[in-house]
This record gives sequence, structure tokens and C-alpha cells, in this order.
Amino acid sequence: MSSGAPTRPRVLTTAAEIFHAVEALRSAGQTVGLVPTMGALHAGHLSLVEAAGRDCDRTVVTIFVNPTQFGPGEDLARYPRDLEADLEVLAQTGVDLVFAPAAEEIYRPGHSTFVLPPDVAQPLEGRCRPGHFQGVATVVLKLLLLAPAHAAYFGEKDFQQLLVMRRMVADLNVPTAVRGCPIVRDADGLAMSSRNAYLTPAERQRALAIPRCLELAADRYRAGQRDSAAIAAGMRQVLADAGLDRIDYVALADAETLAEATQLGPSSVALVAAHVGATRLIDNRRLG
Ligand code: PAJ
Repeated sequence: MSSGAPTRPRVLTTAAEIFHAVEALRSAGQTVGLVPTMGALHAGHLSLVEAAGRDCDRTVVTIFVNPTQFGPGEDLARYPRDLEADLEVLAQTGVDLVFAPAAEEIYRPGHSTFVLPPDVAQPLEGRCRPGHFQGVATVVLKLLLLAPAHAAYFGEKDFQQLLVMRRMVADLNVPTAVRGCPIVRDADGLAMSSRNAYLTPAERQRALAIPRCLELAADRYRAGQRDSAAIAAGMRQVLADAGLDRIDYVALADAETLAEATQLGPSSVALVAAHVGATRLIDNRRLG
């Protein structure tokens, strides 16, 4: 085989298999990077894979649409699932192992233990999606136990999720480093997301108001404005002008704690969650 030829990663589906595979790598002295995903892989996910590949000898990608992080009435049933396509994409990367379990492998009959997520899980997404971070924290802790990696990679796209992960591994003494990676955007500015596949072309055009309103926040911050209420009002106006009327939140907050900031500073972040048609999108931008 020529050196640049795509090699499909090894796919494991059981808890025992992934545990022993990662243990074997560690025993052989290799460092392991873990990239947890729900599949429908895009360039945002691949940026995490690349970061893991830079830092670690071996990279493990998990593909699991975690039912416990979806609320009733959310998109669990229609969430895009195409393992074959994901494996094709991963064949172009240096990923060694894919863990793609069935839901019953992760949640055995009688499963009833969950992680109580940290305080930083309370505002924003926590308020809009009750139980979401409990599901995320539980599944990620389980994945870190099943695939005990040296480092795990998360995108800043899900900014609050990244903070929840950092706090969880610190609080629970999980011996894995959490690494955050920058948001990857499409050429038009929309943050890449598996959920963008739900958008019609017209909805996608309207969705561009989300990155636009974050750009407005960054521009005003750069221009010296520090009053968060004024900037939030400007952001809401950009969304409203595009016809996005179901806004879950527009927030200007501290990037460590997510406490709402009245006066902005170098550690401020702007965060948005809004519905475009039947699709809920989130995005954020650091201001400092
Ligand atoms: P998923 O939405 O598939 O995202 C997997 C990882 O990719 C997350 O860390 C997310 O922040 C990152 N990501 C998604 N879009 C990105 C983008 N445009 N730029 C950079 N990173 C991006 O997040 C989850 O899955 C789940 O909650 C999970 C952590 C896997 C637990 O089930």
C-alpha cells in the first residue's frame, strides 16, 4: 500500500474491547488522545482529531449519539447517523481507533447513576435544556473510564460544554487533560455543526445573522464599548432583522464562570442560542 493511502480505523463496539485496546496502547508507552463525538463528522470535528494527532501518539474517536443528553421533544430521533460516511472521513486522517457502541452497551438495563454537573452547567444551555449537561457529563465520564486517554479534545463551539468538562475532570480527579480547540466556521461564517444539515438554503441564509451578531459584539468591543446591555440589544436587533424571533439567549458573560457581565473586559465572551425554523443553533465569540 502506498504511504498516503486511506486506512480505515479499527472500529470497536463493546466496552471491553475499547478498554483493552486503550490499555494495550498505554502499556506499550503510547500517549492516547480521545475525541468524543456524536458523528455526522465535519471539519470542526476533524480539527479536534488533528489537534489530538499533534499532541498524542494515537487518537481514538468515539461516535455515540448519547440519548441521555437529549430532552423530550428534542432531535434525538432525527439526529443524523451515518457510520459508514464517518469512517470514510476518518480514513483520511490518522485515527487509529473508533469506538461506536450501541446505546445498550453504554446504558445497560437498570442504569441509574448520573453525574451531577458543576455550577457552570446551570445558566444558558442548562436553563434551556434541563438535564442536558447531566447527560453530557455522565457519558463523557463513562467514555473517559472506558478509554482512559491522556488528553480529551473539545470544541469551543460548545463553549459551556468545554467549561463543564474542565470543571468535571478537575472536581472528580479524572487523570485526563481537557483541551479546547477553536471554532471552525464555513466560508460564510456559520459555525460548523452536524445540525446545519437540517437547514433549508433559505434558513441557512437567515442563520448567518448568528455569526453576524457575534461579529457586531466583537466590533463594538474593539471600538471601546463596554456596556453589555447596549451590546446585547444590538445583537438582538441583528437577529430580529433576520427574522429570528425564537432567541433562547443572547449573553455577555465571563469566559471562566459564565457569570453575566454588566461591564465587559478581556475575559468576556458573547454567546447566542436561537432557533431557525425547527433547528436550534448555538454559537459564541470571545471578545477580549
Ligand atoms: P458533537 O456535537 O458531535 O461535537 C463533538 C465535539 O466537536 C465537541 O467537542 C464540539 O464542541 C466539537 N465541535 C463541533 N462543531 C465544532 C466546530 N464548528 N468547531 C470546533 N469544534 C466543534 O458535543 C458533542 O458532540 C457531545 O455533547 C459529546 C461531547 C460527544 C458528548 O455526547
